[in-house]
Amino acid sequence: MDFKLTEEHIMIRDAARDFAKNELLPGVIERDEKQEFPKEQIKKMGELGFLGMMVSPEYGGGGMDTVSYVLAMEEISKIDASASVVMSVNNSLVCWGLDTFGNEEQKQKYLTKLAAGESIGAFCLSEPEAGSDATSQKTTAIEKDDHYVLNGTKNWITNGSTADFYIVIAQTHPEKKHKGINAFIVEKGWDGFEIGPKEQKLGIRGSDTHSLNFNDVKVPKENRIGEDGFGFKFAMKTLSGGRIGIAAQALGIAAGAYELAREYSKVRKAFGTEIMNHQAIAFKLADMHTSIEAARHLVMKAACDKDNGENYDLSGAMAKLFASKTAMDVSVEAVQVHGGNGYVKEYHVERLMRDAKITQIYEGTSEIQKIVISRSILRD
Ligand code: CAA
Repeated sequence: MDFKLTEEHIMIRDAARDFAKNELLPGVIERDEKQEFPKEQIKKMGELGFLGMMVSPEYGGGGMDTVSYVLAMEEISKIDASASVVMSVNNSLVCWGLDTFGNEEQKQKYLTKLAAGESIGAFCLSEPEAGSDATSQKTTAIEKDDHYVLNGTKNWITNGSTADFYIVIAQTHPEKKHKGINAFIVEKGWDGFEIGPKEQKLGIRGSDTHSLNFNDVKVPKENRIGEDGFGFKFAMKTLSGGRIGIAAQALGIAAGAYELAREYSKVRKAFGTEIMNHQAIAFKLADMHTSIEAARHLVMKAACDKDNGENYDLSGAMAKLFASKTAMDVSVEAVQVHGGNGYVKEYHVERLMRDAKITQIYEGTSEIQKIVISRSILRD
């Protein structure tokens, strides 16, 4: 395996690093505290091409590979995981899904705006009774004349109130179980579409998470993605790529926390010397660095699999499982290295620790990743 980055990869990584430092770092603590969506910053990310990185240039995207995307995700996530989840959902769950499975009209009407960052997308699969058990969709989309009638509730939707376009998964033929599910593009503002209150979250507090209600929303037939009954496969295929994005987010949170801890250990003194000179601290940093490198290799392997046209269900699930555990472990240790300072907001590591937890939950919990991994390795 050759993980050597090209000049273009390095340029993209450096651009994301500079953007994160110059545009996301200022105010990140306050946005977290006030649960404030990084509106201006996301607008700039769109202008710089970070919201439609892998979309074909003919639809206004960057035409970049997945390696470029994960490099950028890591850098943005080191500083602001609330901004990186917007980036991840827009790139992997919304743009990729439309680019790969949408028809020409859908791409012209929706993808071009999403890829340019002029519009933001949301992906609506989870429901009050269908989180991990995603086939148990209770939201219905019943065919009537030239449209579908959508009814139901979606939960924990990232970009819930800031999105313009929503990909909504719903059951059309309950008797067919998952084979009767469809995916639809729904626009904000359509009659009967209500946005519920904002969730008060432990971490990624700048991201905008809501429940959504659909009461007899009329969705034109042309807004169904793919053939009748393709919705569950659409969701699974899209989430497989999404998991690589979240793995990169987790890697970034871990790397961000580690870098802060490493630098702190060089300046903080205890017992007459910088704390890096105490083996108790140096060994923690060694462990953190090693698990981050291992996570980075898994993330890169999954990204390369996707770029090389290989199946990435297994490598993506392994990357997410391991990188999210790394984010959790490393951020807890980063707080420990900082001691009392780690527990207060201005040192950033407590926020990264809170942000890390969601990477073990969304886009498939760690337990779901183990289902995907174990089924894959036991299949043959
Ligand atoms: N690609 C293509 N098809 C797939 C697939 C994949 N990766 N994974 C499953 N399928 C297909 C199966 O082949 C099967 O189809 P057939 O019957 O035609 O063969 C169908 O989907 C059903 O699959 P299973 O029988 O495996 O279904 P299951 O109920 O046993 O479990 C699961 C599937 C993997 C557990 C799935 O339910 C799952 O991934 N759950 C987690 C859901 C999730 O990740 N939610 C995240 C919400 S989105 C989010 O968090 C976004 C955000 O805002 C940040």
